[in-house]
Amino acid sequence: MPKTLVTYPLPTPRLKDFCEKWDGVVVPKGTTVDEAFLMREGAGCEALVTLLNHPVTRRVLEACPRLRVVANAAAGFDNVDVAAARGRGVFVTNTPGVLDRATADLTWALILACCRRVVEADRFLREGRFHGWEPDLLLGMDLNGKVLGVVGMGRIGTEVARRAGAFGMKVAYHGPTAAPPPFPAEAMDLDALLGAADVLTLHVPLTPSTRGLLDRRRLMRMKPGAVLINTSRGAVVDEGALAELLASGRLRAAGLDVYEREPAVHPGLMGLSNAVLLPHIGSAGEETRRTMADWALENAGRVLGGGAPLTNVWPLDTLSPFVKNP
Ligand code: GLV
Repeated sequence: MPKTLVTYPLPTPRLKDFCEKWDGVVVPKGTTVDEAFLMREGAGCEALVTLLNHPVTRRVLEACPRLRVVANAAAGFDNVDVAAARGRGVFVTNTPGVLDRATADLTWALILACCRRVVEADRFLREGRFHGWEPDLLLGMDLNGKVLGVVGMGRIGTEVARRAGAFGMKVAYHGPTAAPPPFPAEAMDLDALLGAADVLTLHVPLTPSTRGLLDRRRLMRMKPGAVLINTSRGAVVDEGALAELLASGRLRAAGLDVYEREPAVHPGLMGLSNAVLLPHIGSAGEETRRTMADWALENAGRVLGGGAPLTNVWPLDTLSPFVKNP
C-alpha cells in the first residue's frame, strides 16, 4: 500500500523525488478521480495530494483512517469536507498567494475580451465578414472612467483591482479586507455595488454563504448593460438566470472561467456571442502551476515528516487539540 496518493501527474520536476521519499503513487491523467476511487485507492494512505475537482468527502475521510493531510494543489478547497477532516485531525492545505497575479491577469483578459468583444470580433473575421474599416464596427464598452466592482477584496480581488488604474477605471468593492486596499477604492454594500459597477468581478471562495450569492434577484439589480466576470467558483452565480439576462441584452456580456457543474456548462450560455467561456484556466501560467504543485507537495511532505504544514486552512490557533504529530 502506498503512503501517499497524488491524484494527478502534477507539472513539477519535484514530483519524482517526492514520490520516492514518501512512497507516492501518481494517478495517471484521464483517470476518473471520484469519491469511490478515492475511498478505494486512498484507503491505506497518510497523505492525499488532490486537485480542486477531486471530492474529499466525509466518506472518503472515513475510508482513509491513516490519513494525516489532504494537500490540495489549488487556492480553493471547496472540494474537501474541511469540518470532517478537522474533526479527524487531518490537515487540509491549499496554495494561497502564488496564483493571485496569474488569476488577476486572466480576469483582465476576460474583462477586455467582454468589453471590446475580442472573441466575437475574431469569429467575425474568420467567417469572412471583414470587408473594411467601419466607424461603427463591433463597438464595445470603453473602460476609461467606468466603475470596476469587486466582490471579495482578498488577495486575488486586490490584484485585479490594482490593475484597474492602468485602464482609468474607478474601483468600488464589497467584502471584508485585512487592511484598507493600497489604492483608491470605495467600500459599498453589495446591493449598492451591483447598481454602481459597469464591470462586476467575483473573487470570493465558495462557502455556504457565497453559494448562489449572485442569484436572479441580485443579477437583476446589476446596472443595465453591465458586464459580469467570474473567475472564482461557478456556484456563486445562478447560471440559468445569467444566461437569460445575457440573451435579453439586460446584461451586456459575461466572462466566465468557472461553472456550477464543471465540466458541464449551462446550455443557455453556449450559443451566446456575448458570453466568453473559458475552461477554468485562471491560474494556468507555467510558473504558477509549477509553484502550486510544489506547495502542495511541500505541505504534504511537511506533515508526513512529522511537522506542521505551511498553509493549513483550519484557523491556526485551534490546531493543537487535533495535531497527531506535533
Ligand atoms: C483555482 O480555481 C484554484 O482554486 O486554485
